[in-house]
Amino acid sequence: RQAVMPRADWRGQRVLVSAGPTQEALDPVRFLSNRSSGKMGYAVAEAARDRGAEVVLVTGPTALPPPAGMAVVTVTTAQEMADALSQRFAWATVVVMAAAVADFRPTEPARQKIKKQGQSRLSLELEPAPDILAMLSAMRTSQLLIGFAAETEDLVPHAQAKLLAKGLDLIVANDVTRVGAGFGSDDNAAVVLSRTGPPREFGLMPKRRLADELLTAALELARAGTV
Ligand code: CTP
Ligand code: CA
Repeated sequence: RQAVMPRADWRGQRVLVSAGPTQEALDPVRFLSNRSSGKMGYAVAEAARDRGAEVVLVTGPTALPPPAGMAVVTVTTAQEMADALSQRFAWATVVVMAAAVADFRPTEPARQKIKKQGQSRLSLELEPAPDILAMLSAMRTSQLLIGFAAETEDLVPHAQAKLLAKGLDLIVANDVTRVGAGFGSDDNAAVVLSRTGPPREFGLMPKRRLADELLTAALELARAGTV
């Protein structure tokens, strides 16, 4: 395998990257969220920056320091992330949607703290949150669209279905149950699917290296004019 060398092959590209989880308020002190650490999205943003791209990172709440050399927009909810990304979508040549966005959110967050007294059970009513990728896909002019798929079973068929349903160019399929990969880890393993070529399997490697492999695959696709 080729060593990762400093290169500027992404110069001229404007890359919009989303990362991290979203948080949906249940009441003023509680929220629904997920286990995303933001590491994979940040790695993609940093890799694109280092290869010469202009980068805007839209990130949910993470424990990571904001990367230098790019604009960083912090958001909390799926709606805020949808707004931040759609505002900047026309600017972008490539969008990488690595964020773990809420699928459902409380229909109406309680105005006051939910009290436990006198309740033997508690049901939450949730409504769908906006599917940002599907939304961006519908707004698309010539952007290359890259999604992620977090799966716990039937990795490739589920990811393939998302690739087609959301009209993506590439999807990075992650088995989030795999030990040493995925949530919180510095490493990841993935299968990258495109609509045109064969699937490419990447074994466990640092997220930064996987990010570089992804960018290389994306550039090949853009250059092949299949997009
Ligand atoms: N995504 C999004 N907006 C959402 C949910 C997901 O843009 N509200 C994006 C993610 O950022 C990811 C892709 O869609 O790039 C796939 O996310 P995933 O959670 O794997 O799939 P879903 O389509 O949400 O389906 P499910 O969670 O039911 O598997
Ligand atoms: Ca989802």
